[in-house]
Formats: sequence, C-alpha cells, structure tokens
Amino acid sequence: MKVAEVQERIRKLKQENDVCILAHAYQGQEILEVADYVGDSYGLSVLASKAPNKTVIMCGVRFMAETCKVLCPQKTVYLANPLAGCPMADEIDLDLLERLKAEHPGYATVAYINTTSALKTACDVCVTSSSAVQICKALEADKILFVPDPNLGSYVASQVPEKQFAFFDGGCPHHKAMTEADVLEAKAAHPNALLAVHPECPAEVVKHADFVGSTTAIMSFAKESEAREFIVGTEVSIVEHLQFDCPEKSFYPLSTRLTCNDMKATTLMDVLGCLQGIAGEAIELPADVMEGAGRCIRRMIELGE
Ligand code: 13P
Ligand code: SF4
Repeated sequence: MKVAEVQERIRKLKQENDVCILAHAYQGQEILEVADYVGDSYGLSVLASKAPNKTVIMCGVRFMAETCKVLCPQKTVYLANPLAGCPMADEIDLDLLERLKAEHPGYATVAYINTTSALKTACDVCVTSSSAVQICKALEADKILFVPDPNLGSYVASQVPEKQFAFFDGGCPHHKAMTEADVLEAKAAHPNALLAVHPECPAEVVKHADFVGSTTAIMSFAKESEAREFIVGTEVSIVEHLQFDCPEKSFYPLSTRLTCNDMKATTLMDVLGCLQGIAGEAIELPADVMEGAGRCIRRMIELGE
C-alpha cells in the first residue's frame, strides 16, 4: 500500500468508529497529516480531556497515553506502538523518589510530565516544558524538589529566582547530550540563523539561545519570526515539520544526534493496525494510580490555565 492509501483508510476508520487521533509534535509528517490534534505534552493533556470521542489513539510515548487515560477514565485510550517509552520517565521509580523526598524535608515535589503515572501519585503537581515556570511560580511552597530533569529544572530555577530548587541527576538522553561545541559548530555553519532550543538541553546550550520553549512553542516562534534561518535544538522531526510549514525559510538541526528512537517507533501502519484492532495497547491503570496521578495532573491543568 502507498502512504496516501493507508492515510485514507485511517481517516475512514476513525470517522466510522468515533476515534480521535492525538499526535505529539515529534511524530512523523505522515502521522501528523491524519491526526485530529497535534501538540506538545501540555496541549495534548488538555486536548485529551476535551475530545468528545469515546476512543483515543495516542501517537507519542507511554507517559502521554497514560496521562490521557488518567484524565479520561471512561475512554478507551490506545498507545499506538506499545514499545514507545520515554527513557527519562523510567529513570526514577517510587522507592528512589521516597528516598529523595526524605532527604529534602519541607520541599514540594514537582514532577516533569515525562514520568510514570505511578510516580505522579507521590508528587504534588506535574509540569510540562511549557507550563513549568508558571506552575512553579504559582505554587505556595518556596522550596521545590524537581524531578527527573535537572536541565529543565535549572532553566525553571533561573526564571523563578525567589525559590530554592533541588534536582535529581536524570534528564533526556538525547537533549542532555548537546554541548556548547555543537552550538558553536552549527552557528559557524549558519551564521545568520537564530537558535531555538528545548529547555531539556544543558545550560551551556541554553545560554546561546535566541528562544527557549516547548516543541510547539519553538514551532510558533520560527513561524512568526521575521528571520529566515533557524537552528533547532530539539528532536530532528521539528526541523522537517517547520520545513513543510515554511518552505521559504531554512531550518537546520542543532545536531543529528537529537533523534529520539522512541518517538520514531510509531508508524502509520501501527495507527492503521490500532484502528483495525490488531495493534496498539489499550492502557489500563490500577485504581489507586488513576486517583493519585489524576490529582497531580489535574493540579497542573488548574495552575497552568
Ligand atoms: P514538550 O513538552 O515540548 O512536548 O516535550 C516533550 C518531550 O518529550 C521533549 O523531549
Ligand atoms: Fe523522552 Fe527525550 Fe524522547 Fe522526549 S526526546 S520522549 S524526553 S527520550
């Protein structure tokens, strides 16, 4: 089958079966074209809770499908490819978190949304890259234990200097591998380009950036800017999407090492298989996890709005 034929089958089946397809902005162009909504982690959480359909297919990674299920317990939520996880989300489990909390009495625990639902049950609130600064400012606590990404956490701390932060030694294996040398090399190759980076990158990269924001915030910045060239410091798929959306501008990856295999795991055939009932995983979570993670995620939405 050709790509266009698969897409046509997907569109027909999702309409016949009242299915909403959500896609994270890191998914491939062929998946974005059949999605009902495309967004960053925050946007997908909010859209998931508002979608009227009884079934949702998440094209992204496991924590995103879990977030969707927690917010919409009455819906059937499929993770299109059950192998798509987020290595950062698996860096810290409940036991490790309890030890960290014991070492930081008096701290509020703030989890990046890139964590398991089980971990969220033991956190005060979760945040995404687009809502973290606002939520950490809005929290009553003046001491924050931020897990698991110290790069995002340090960026937030720089924007919320009135509070005290403690971090876990984790992070996204792809973004945290970026270096100042990568920036200098990319800038030397494209001296007129603006640099837009995700806050999961290290401070030595972020300090050179013209813009710091979530995946969709980076896209909006590049689309709205009058500049013609951009170096993109997040997953390489964003370079491709921007090039489709703005053919008159030029986009370059900060590094081709910024490739997330987990985000690349989902294929168009997975989405079709999910609609045909032969692929995907229907997410089920224990009642206590639904309840505890629900409190943590709903607090994020309350404070983020
Ligand atoms: P966003 O919150 O920008 O969607 O980022 C999610 C992510 O996994 C970045 O690596
Ligand atoms: Fe997780 Fe990093 Fe992949 Fe984002 S890019 S899903 S943080 S491993």
